[in-house]
Amino acid sequence: MHKILLFVFGLSILASQPTLATETINIFTYRQPALLAPMLEAYTKETGIEFKTVYAPKGLVARLQAEGQNAQADMVITVDISRVKELADSGLLAPLSSPIIARNVPAHLRAEDDSWTALSLRARILAISKKRVTKDSLKDIEQLADPEWQGRVCTRKGSHVYNRALLASLIAHHGEEDARAWAKGLVGNLARRPQGNDRAQAKAIYAGECDVALMNTYYFGKMKFNKGEPEQRVWADSIKLVFFNQQGRGQHVNISAGGILKTSKNKDRARAFLAWLTSAEAQRLYTEINYEYPVNPESAPSDEVASWGSFKMDKLALPEIARLSPVAQRIINSTGW
Ligand SMILES: [Fe+2]
Repeated sequence: MHKILLFVFGLSILASQPTLATETINIFTYRQPALLAPMLEAYTKETGIEFKTVYAPKGLVARLQAEGQNAQADMVITVDISRVKELADSGLLAPLSSPIIARNVPAHLRAEDDSWTALSLRARILAISKKRVTKDSLKDIEQLADPEWQGRVCTRKGSHVYNRALLASLIAHHGEEDARAWAKGLVGNLARRPQGNDRAQAKAIYAGECDVALMNTYYFGKMKFNKGEPEQRVWADSIKLVFFNQQGRGQHVNISAGGILKTSKNKDRARAFLAWLTSAEAQRLYTEINYEYPVNPESAPSDEVASWGSFKMDKLALPEIARLSPVAQRIINSTGW
């Protein structure tokens, strides 16, 4: 009886598919799905298009290469420039070919060969103890290597993409040898072995283990308004954010980015969604919900994000950071960061 019912049910699904078929976009993402969810929900509400996301923090290039034409993904969303550049360099991305994206996103935040676009910006700032550090005593990232900060610095591992990109920016500005000396000085100033994520560094400042840490700006908002773990609010309350190198080249930033896969069978759909992510509407979600900075100059940071202060941005070309990332990784290995 059950079998017959299932069979009949199956047939009715098949028969009704043409009218019921939902349009879907398959996303491979390096971003935590929770950070992407508000954008996906808003887009589904507006268009009816649904998403399947595969969270793949590691090995995405190898996986896509192995799957080839069978890859089910239409597009990728990544954090950090190196990863999206790696996908592009591996020939996995199709041109965006979107006048909307070209209009919404400044050229220095897009690939020269049109293979990817940045979708949001985040500043990797210095978090300092409200109690133990006076704001003006730390202005430039270079100072983290100074003897004054001996035993007072906390960071996550150097090899994390956020720190590697920051070090790559120092190589670009000062050359490899100076950047190596800086990393060595920074490691010498660490209060503890590199560990934990960015929020764990704020926790360590709160606990008095260190006085200064490296952190992406949105984590401050995520902690300050945290509902699930209210103790994070206390960590946020113990720190101040310092935008560095404001008298000189400007604050180092990193990005989240997106691209369309060559093997996608739904390129137009993926392109329309990616273009929507750069629209004023989606950019508002990035800043209101995720506490990031918009890439679209027509959009402004949310009131909360704006309250952290405005800053001058280091406009170092992102592909340059990706190019220097392997050099940065060698320095990280040799200095034990
Ligand atoms: Fe992050």
